[in-house]
Amino acid sequence: MLFVIIFCEFASPRLVCLGRIIFIMKIKSIKNIKNLAGKRVLLRCDFNVPIKNGRILDDYKIIKGLETVEYLLKKKSKVIIVSHLGRPDAAKKNAKHSLLPVAEFLKEKIKRPINFINDISGFQLGTAVSKMKNSEIILLENIRFEKGEKENSAVLARHLAKLADVYINDAFAVSHRAHASVSVIKKYLPSYAGLLLEKEILHLGKALNPARPLILIIGGVKLATKIPLIKKFRKKAHRILLGGALANNFFAAHGYEIGRSLVDKESVAFAKKIIKKGWYKNIILPIDLRVSNKKSFWDAHNKKINEIGKKDYILDIGNETVDFYKKYIKGAATIVWNGPMGMFEEQKFKHGTLSIARSLAVNSKKSVFSIVGGGETIEALKMTKTINDINWVSTGGGAMLAFLSKEKMPGIKGLVSGF
Ligand code: 3PG
Repeated sequence: MLFVIIFCEFASPRLVCLGRIIFIMKIKSIKNIKNLAGKRVLLRCDFNVPIKNGRILDDYKIIKGLETVEYLLKKKSKVIIVSHLGRPDAAKKNAKHSLLPVAEFLKEKIKRPINFINDISGFQLGTAVSKMKNSEIILLENIRFEKGEKENSAVLARHLAKLADVYINDAFAVSHRAHASVSVIKKYLPSYAGLLLEKEILHLGKALNPARPLILIIGGVKLATKIPLIKKFRKKAHRILLGGALANNFFAAHGYEIGRSLVDKESVAFAKKIIKKGWYKNIILPIDLRVSNKKSFWDAHNKKINEIGKKDYILDIGNETVDFYKKYIKGAATIVWNGPMGMFEEQKFKHGTLSIARSLAVNSKKSVFSIVGGGETIEALKMTKTINDINWVSTGGGAMLAFLSKEKMPGIKGLVSGF
């Protein structure tokens, strides 16, 4: 049992460091398993990466997961890797959702053969496992091709459990799902956390008991997925800085004209509720915006919210907002960022998101402890070459939000105390 001690500043946003308290989190760590040599290990990874025409477009999650794979190989275990890829219709196999490109990628990276098994229910798998030698790897085909996976089926979990002596969850990014290979499987095998899972818990745990002032930066599109985070942090965070289409919902809820900008009814209703309940006090909205009034988005103008016309699209935060948000970043002790500030894939509307990335990177080298998560946000870090400057870049998008919001995490239940 590994004890993770998290020190946290206990202070008000203005008075830094009034005291110090210690939180102890217990993690059932892979490092506590004695004698892994010859043991058959069922390792749940999250190798859910974007793939196009058989080519992996972003290998971040796989690279982060390699540490545990290599640890097990060094300890001479027999490693059976389970992962999902995308959201295929249950039991409908298709090439687009096959993990075969991941098997090829792993082979290159680890410089070892990977035995890719594409039929989980047939004889082929049992035979392959029984023939495994120490430090060999099997990768199973996409577990979401099995109907039982999303149903958290005990039958599927028992079938997987029979293949192994030990279960390790290293798939933090899917640990918010009650799925067979992350949740119920733990009933049938001695279960532990992998090295990546452990690091996620340790680093994200610092935001649960943060050094203050804590600043949350939230962007992207869907407000609904971020509501629990706002609820959880509305008192703890000194400020919650909003951007992206998410902010449009608040503008609409306040009755501003937002032209043809992206909003959705459900999110506007949420925003209204937040305002009505008075949770709005420390939420900051952009003070100016970068807009276009052409469908092709070829023109760009800076406007204040009360200047938005009926034909405008809000596509980024404006320059004044960037400077304003940078001041908060500079003054923070802890920052959590999830979701871009605008349509950063377009040249004319990338300034807001990329400026936030650069500012976070600069300040992370000084006194700020920074946490970033979510696919698009990580993309912005890559574009600005700042990914290595951030203190923790989570592999989880939805899982990071769920963990920080203290929602149920079936994948880590029983592996980490308090969940
Ligand atoms: C992710 O990419 O966030 C995880 O792999 C979880 O995928 P899911 O949202 O399809 O469950």
